[in-house]
Amino acid sequence: MFGSIVVDHIGELVTCAGDGIGLVHDAAVVVRNGRVAFAGARADLPGDARGDDVIDAGGRLVTPGLVDPHTHLVFAGSRAHEFDLRNQGRSYLEIQQAGGGILATVKATRAASDGELVAGAAARLDRFLAQGVTVVEAKTGYDLTIEGERRLLAALQAVRESHVIDVSPTLLAHVPPSGGDESSRALFVRAFAEELIPTTNAEAVDVYCDAGAFTLDETRAILTAAKKYGKRLRVHAEQFTHTGAAELAAELGAASVEHLEQLSDGAPARLAAAGVVCNLLPGAALTLKLPWPDARKLLAAGCAVALGTDCNPGSSLSESLPLMMTLACTQMGLSAAEAWLGVTRHAARAVGRADAGVLAPGARGDLVIWDADDHRQVPQHFGVPLARTTIVRGVIAFRRDAGA
Ligand code: NIG
Ligand code: FE
Repeated sequence: MFGSIVVDHIGELVTCAGDGIGLVHDAAVVVRNGRVAFAGARADLPGDARGDDVIDAGGRLVTPGLVDPHTHLVFAGSRAHEFDLRNQGRSYLEIQQAGGGILATVKATRAASDGELVAGAAARLDRFLAQGVTVVEAKTGYDLTIEGERRLLAALQAVRESHVIDVSPTLLAHVPPSGGDESSRALFVRAFAEELIPTTNAEAVDVYCDAGAFTLDETRAILTAAKKYGKRLRVHAEQFTHTGAAELAAELGAASVEHLEQLSDGAPARLAAAGVVCNLLPGAALTLKLPWPDARKLLAAGCAVALGTDCNPGSSLSESLPLMMTLACTQMGLSAAEAWLGVTRHAARAVGRADAGVLAPGARGDLVIWDADDHRQVPQHFGVPLARTTIVRGVIAFRRDAGA
């Protein structure tokens, strides 16, 4: 549904147009038929700017709708007990090797009905919307059979058709099925590359390349097939062990590379040269007590750094991109402006949505009015929801003050 709306009396507007975050004070935004018609100083507001609806932002901060470039949206079950075990000293890989971790979620997901999977994903999208998020990348990966991964993609497709958030589906080769001996691994990789990838409507393909997951050679085989079929490529790379997956992502021209806690010295320059967006996932580093990814090294090399929630039942159970901004600023040394670009323009590029994450004429009319009047307050003021009104394609999709 496309709408027309005027948001007036904006105290501080973050447009993300141009080089930086494009701050404008005393501003207004006009959306017509779902697209931005004007975003700038009130003094320049065209005389004919009139929408079906005018919202008074009351001097507050307004930004583009947030874009989450990395989520595992579709899953069933809870791993709350693992959270407790890890906080008492057990490691993520130890729990995975004992049949917990990803495999526990696979079991619960296979047992869930289609309706349960769609309802779970929709509930998560509702929480994203309440945090100001309007575009979400969403991965499969919790079934590990060819037919089951198709079912997860169908669930993503169903939730995409019924929810106001724009969902970008990614097929994820998560871990080889149940530990997998040599030949069953090879069969899975071949079926994934030759049967699944060519016959799905996923926009992107992602491989988790790590100890306990896929090897670099297996990752290359899957991503090469994905490239042949015109999919955007992503790699869960260098999370627990250094594998060289970041270099592979650069070599294959991936859209994005994820995690990067264990980055080599040479990778940042290669990622920058290849234009690969670096999706950093502070929620996973926080939960698993991993070293913080070296965001400053990536930025110094000229990489585009984006931030994702990594929303999943094990390593990062959160739908809050503002919290990821807080962690990126306080723990990884990003400036507030760099964090904003990470959840808007750069994330939109990783997801192939060039018209999102920016407020400029022609862009999609996705914007957020915040309970803040300065863009630095969103990462600073953490642990409480600050998104007040989320507008998607010119239509109010969420209001925190509804009924008040
Ligand atoms: O991105 N690293 C691998 N996959 C997920 C975790 C999935 C899970 O624990 O269920 C991640 O962190
Ligand atoms: Fe992930």
